[in-house]
Amino acid sequence: MDIHDEMLARLRNRKPGFSLDRPFYIDPAYYQLDLEHVWYRDWLFVGHDCEIPAPGNYFTVEVGAYSVIVVRGDDGQIRALHNSCRHRGSRVCLEHKGAAAKLVCPYHQWTYDLDGSLLFARQMGDDFDTSAFGLKSVACEAAGGYIFISLAKDPMDFAPFRAMMEPFFLPHRLREAKVAFESTIIEKGNWKLVWENNRECYHCAANHPELCKTFPEAPTVTGVSGAQDDPEIVAHWEKCEAIGLPSAFTIDESGQYRVTRVPLLRDAISYTISGRKAVQMRLSDNVHMDRIGSLLLYHYPTTWNHILSDHAVTFRVLPISATETAVTTKWLVHKDAVEGIDYRLDELIHVWTETNDQDRRIVEDNARGIQSPAYQPGPYSQIHEGGVIQFINWYAEFMEKRLSGSGQPSLRSVA
Ligand code: FES
Ligand code: FE
Repeated sequence: MDIHDEMLARLRNRKPGFSLDRPFYIDPAYYQLDLEHVWYRDWLFVGHDCEIPAPGNYFTVEVGAYSVIVVRGDDGQIRALHNSCRHRGSRVCLEHKGAAAKLVCPYHQWTYDLDGSLLFARQMGDDFDTSAFGLKSVACEAAGGYIFISLAKDPMDFAPFRAMMEPFFLPHRLREAKVAFESTIIEKGNWKLVWENNRECYHCAANHPELCKTFPEAPTVTGVSGAQDDPEIVAHWEKCEAIGLPSAFTIDESGQYRVTRVPLLRDAISYTISGRKAVQMRLSDNVHMDRIGSLLLYHYPTTWNHILSDHAVTFRVLPISATETAVTTKWLVHKDAVEGIDYRLDELIHVWTETNDQDRRIVEDNARGIQSPAYQPGPYSQIHEGGVIQFINWYAEFMEKRLSGSGQPSLRSVA
């Protein structure tokens, strides 16, 4: 049986409500199938509009074997381009981020415009057609301050996601925010283990003393449904919606993305030890209340997010190998907030820096345990791990459809 058929058989024979078989978490051949069928085909969150505010600002991102440049053009448009020169294939942009009037390949100085078109190729002869050798473009969409790319030749429709998330996100004006701090940690575990850990708070009380001061471990908050039956959460939605902030739990049909607003513990405003705001200036001039809890968004496979009244914490997941995953965290504040005056950086980043490191450790311990041939899939808690069950069901259904060639998973949003 080839690896494709083997994976399909394991997906079809898996026990619902149990973790996956060992190869899904450790096998390089399974990882390659994940790359080809998820990472090279889906919309992926890569960064924020506010990171590239001016023409020529760019950043690069690595997805499996691909390197992509995300750049703002002279016309203000954000585009994504394959970072592979059309001469002999060199990387064109070598830095993770930067600013450039033109994109110049370091090898033989072929020079590209910010939209990817080839402007100049030195001594290639009079009849050389530069128009045939522009940098290849990558599908790119910006929504609510978030930039997504898709490496697929024929990307899925982005519109349903935009329609769902923008009403929630536009009031927070993340397009006009700034990144106060960012960190990238490498977790020695498969990307699905990083997500499984994220989608439950069964582990929180024993592992996250700082986060647990403000973030509820209730399954209605961390799980994927049931929030509408929790009177405290419903009251919070009503309070926030009364000031123009969409809040009620919303999920797309396939379960790939959901957005909802949740209250924090003790009426906390922010993810600080005290629960008080970390930034004196609100993230958005458009939001007129402090106690709005946290706006939660996930979009598989790349991002989960917490948007508060005073700042936002956004997360990007990118796989590195079958057993390594990069998690990038960004703390966004109002563009005019000044470090040392409006916020103390150590206070702003403390809770999630500690939480990330705690999560890294438990994901790595989980990954090491699965390396043992004695590992066998175990049961998720129906009470606390509904979010993990939902993630694994999404992954399994998604992969099964793609491996069996039965078409794209449905991505219609529901109100
Ligand atoms: Fe880029 Fe030669 S490889 S100019
Ligand atoms: Fe955690």
